[in-house]
Amino acid sequence: MTNEKIKRIGVFTSGGDAPGMNAAIRAVVRTGIYYQKEVFGIMRGYEGMIEGDIVKLGARSVGNIIQRGGTILKTARSKEFRTKEGRLKAYNNLKKEGIDALVAIGGDGSFTGLHYLTEEFGIPAVCIPGTIDNDLTGTDYTIGYDTATNTAVEAIDKIRDTALSHNRLFFIEVMGRNSGYIAVNSGIAGGAAAIIIPEETMSFENLMTLLTAGEGSSKKSNLIVVAEGSKIGGATELAKKVAERSDYFDIKVTVLGHLQRGGSPTYFDRVLASKLGVAAVEGILKGQTDVMVGIRNSKIVYNSFDSIINHVHEIDQESLRIAKILSI
Ligand code: F6P
Repeated sequence: MTNEKIKRIGVFTSGGDAPGMNAAIRAVVRTGIYYQKEVFGIMRGYEGMIEGDIVKLGARSVGNIIQRGGTILKTARSKEFRTKEGRLKAYNNLKKEGIDALVAIGGDGSFTGLHYLTEEFGIPAVCIPGTIDNDLTGTDYTIGYDTATNTAVEAIDKIRDTALSHNRLFFIEVMGRNSGYIAVNSGIAGGAAAIIIPEETMSFENLMTLLTAGEGSSKKSNLIVVAEGSKIGGATELAKKVAERSDYFDIKVTVLGHLQRGGSPTYFDRVLASKLGVAAVEGILKGQTDVMVGIRNSKIVYNSFDSIINHVHEIDQESLRIAKILSI
């Protein structure tokens, strides 16, 4: 794989960090070097690209990071990159360093920026899906989702112990602005009585019906998992509304928040990140550009940014069905 046109590859992380991003950086750097390319790390995503904060990376400089959460390249959400002037500054810095191809690790917001950069300046670019939300179409899994869901399950298990001991009703809020993936799967794995997600229209009245059924059978402790993007209110709001309607339950709220973004990546996320990192570089060297690399039915796939940006990764209906059957 000797693409003579590409000599220097830039890699960066962008948007919310996700466990496994470091494993992806390591894979990109080592694959680039394996194919005799030079690899540069761009710090703080598009912010660092605009400011020219770019460092050369070697095979050893990405040692001892596969097991670490966060991102050694740091990350940011850049407003300036949304403007044409910002992107021109960024492109000039890339040119100055001789960077002739890019690999971005991030979510859909990060890809949109890169899509514009490739369109405007013709620089080849491949994206690797890295976000705990698993909200990107074109891949079965995004890097970080497995770790975040395991973190949520561990927390739910712990809350269950105290909920049962006190006969309490807990509303547990997990991350997911527009996506219920973490909620659905941590809810199934944690044995939740109900799962409330942005994609599904469980009304507040449905929730009350479910809880009232519990009242009828003297069931007092319950775990309700709520995705932060729930259309009928987050955990705090729902708890308040239920308390206004009934004093049967002793209600508590736990918002897991950014806890879900940290920690050592699971084996699954490390392997996924490694595979996608290798595939991103090999894809670029084979002429792929303006695409996201993903994994579908265990096979590497490349999908154009156009087919990814602003499209929804549909929630698995079968999982929702299973969750309902098992929560009776
Ligand atoms: O997109 C990943 C995510 O963790 C979402 O689940 C969450 O809504 C958002 O990022 C939080 O972003 P920030 O860290 O900027 O508050």
